[in-house]
Amino acid sequence: MSDTKDIEDKILVEISKTQSLKELQAIKIKELGKKGRISNLMKSLSEVSTEEKKVLGKSYNELRANILKAFESKELEIKDADILKKIKVEKLDITLPVRPGNNNDAGKVHPISRTIDTIIDIFSNFNFVVETGPDIENDFNNFTALNIPDDHPARQDHDTFYISNKDNKERKLLRTHTSPVQIRTMLNQKPPIRIIAPGRTFRCDDDATHSPMFHQIEGLVIDKNINMGHLKGLIRSFCEEFFEVRNLPIRFRPSFFPFTEPSAEIDIGYNKKGNSIKIGQGSNWLEVMGCGMVHPKVLVNCNLDPEEWQGFAFGLGVERFAMLKYGISDLRNFYEGDIRWLNHYGFNTTNGPNFDFKED
Ligand code: PHE
Repeated sequence: MSDTKDIEDKILVEISKTQSLKELQAIKIKELGKKGRISNLMKSLSEVSTEEKKVLGKSYNELRANILKAFESKELEIKDADILKKIKVEKLDITLPVRPGNNNDAGKVHPISRTIDTIIDIFSNFNFVVETGPDIENDFNNFTALNIPDDHPARQDHDTFYISNKDNKERKLLRTHTSPVQIRTMLNQKPPIRIIAPGRTFRCDDDATHSPMFHQIEGLVIDKNINMGHLKGLIRSFCEEFFEVRNLPIRFRPSFFPFTEPSAEIDIGYNKKGNSIKIGQGSNWLEVMGCGMVHPKVLVNCNLDPEEWQGFAFGLGVERFAMLKYGISDLRNFYEGDIRWLNHYGFNTTNGPNFDFKED
């Protein structure tokens, strides 16, 4: 017995002294390999009596298991040390410019990112700040606080992805719009509020014109004496800057959202020639966003007094804005990650958003 213990101690010392995986591997072969020391011990069992075999066999098996364990933990230790060494030594300078003549490898900005950046730029000129909220929301922020109670038909319209809750805690979901950021902001900040909230949104819908994940940008203004005229002026200026068209034909069509009253959908005028769309000419209307005055019930749900504070909100689909501005005809291209598509429709990182008016 003490023999086995001796052997084990010796091997463990040997393992603990190793510094590289190569060295470790060599010892492993020597000790545990087919012709290694432990295999030989096992073989020697055939020469002893049944009684002895029982006792020795057990101790050899234990020896083997202990040694294996020691090898495994040493292997992990060496690997960890190697990674730490690499992290210390290797530096990646992501600020280095791309080498000339190697432009195919240069990254491009995705049209969705570019559109979000451009919209943020325009609204920051109007003194808006950016707010964000999580993709996984609770029922209250996504629906209830927005005046969409449990039995409201609008809940069905939203084709919600619910997240299963085994322990009966509050039900979670993937947000169906960016409007919950309105609630989060009103609950956490004192007015005046002037925010836009870009982000991912999710609906259980997948065809040529719908993707289960898409992007919206929400806007919210809360102040004293805010009226629909402010909303119309702001949206007109925004659309003219975004589409780089002066005197853009734009109309506010009465609509319904549970969280705004009155509510409107905004259409802009366009002309279709063959497959190309010209914004701002012609007599066709295209719906681009929803908006309205924040419903008094929503203000109350966020502990604001509707007699003191009013405001407006709007929500737009980023994909639709990007498709219109950059002439992209199929929604699904956005998410396929085809590098050839991105090389064609993407933007160079060095060119910032350009939303100057073109000269007429
Ligand atoms: N949340 C609405 C939607 O997803 C859009 C909207 C936002 C409408 C804010 C009015 C005000 O359809």
